[in-house]
Amino acid sequence: MVPAPHASSSAATPALVGGMPPTAALYERVRRVIPSVEWPAFAPDIEAIIDLKRRRNAVILAHNYQTPEIFHCVADIVGDSLALAREAARTEADVIVLCGVHFMAETAKLLNPEKRVLIPDPDAGCSLAASITGADVRLLRQRYPGVPVVTYVNTSAEVKAESDICCTSGNARAVIESLGVDRVIMLPDEYLAKNIAAETKVKVIAWHGRCEVHECFEAKDIQRLRRSHPGVVVLAHPECPPEVVAEADFVGSTQGMSDYVARERPARVVLITECSMSDNVSVHYPDIEFVRPCNLCPHMKRITLPKIRRALETMAHAIEIDPAVAAPARRAVERMLEIKAR
Ligand code: 13P
Ligand code: SF4
Repeated sequence: MVPAPHASSSAATPALVGGMPPTAALYERVRRVIPSVEWPAFAPDIEAIIDLKRRRNAVILAHNYQTPEIFHCVADIVGDSLALAREAARTEADVIVLCGVHFMAETAKLLNPEKRVLIPDPDAGCSLAASITGADVRLLRQRYPGVPVVTYVNTSAEVKAESDICCTSGNARAVIESLGVDRVIMLPDEYLAKNIAAETKVKVIAWHGRCEVHECFEAKDIQRLRRSHPGVVVLAHPECPPEVVAEADFVGSTQGMSDYVARERPARVVLITECSMSDNVSVHYPDIEFVRPCNLCPHMKRITLPKIRRALETMAHAIEIDPAVAAPARRAVERMLEIKAR
């Protein structure tokens, strides 16, 4: 399997290293972020999941916010929403296990209607996806006739089905500017819409959805951090409020932040986003100091090793989408994937 250009390949089946059991070799990857006393609680599930993946011809796609024992030890492909959508579109596996939130699994299913797409916990939601319905989009269209609807992938298939095109935090500006119009409706994240509006000449009409993780950051948090950690480089996700984005040195998707660290190698860095990001990225850079104020996403944290194991054992919970919804929703996602961004 070829990893997506913007995803990084994570746990392949581990080889025996110097006679050590496979999980001991895996522990070497995460020893800086998982205390050794915790490892015995993870190892049996990791071993079972690796075996089940082989037997089921399954691939595990994991978002950058998954915990390190998932991200570094059982995932085949890791990345941001855009990378996971791209990889889902090209996988040859029979089964996709999406370690992330529900809208990500739905997107994978839209792109693979014939495949079995599993989410280890069907209640892994998202405050953005919960902020808007298909009926809301229809009302907006009545209010702004003829204005195209650009919908963040953090939405249900029902909302995507009412949209012209999808976007992610990694390609939002490119998607909006590809339309050749002077006005768009951008749903549902108010802050992402405002942050993109500040970068483009296109007028952006926003909805009032918020990410419950990123909306908690404040400009004064960043100012305090700069005082307490001189020289710290601040990377922020565009779901943060505009005042926070204005304080940052770099703004980008989760993969954009990870790529920035790889490229620029700052001596001291803070990732203004979900907590697991720093754990996952820091594993590769022992020489970089990661300052760690962060907020947990309770939805992402619903995904655990025992639930992944159970999903592969029982083939639950399978994503199903009404075909009448799936067809227009798929068009909106595929239209986005045709746009070359990054
Ligand atoms: P990206 O990984 O696409 O930047 O999205 C962040 C996010 O909040 C996903 O839930
Ligand atoms: Fe949704 Fe925010 Fe959690 Fe991402 S981090 S899944 S946008 S609530």
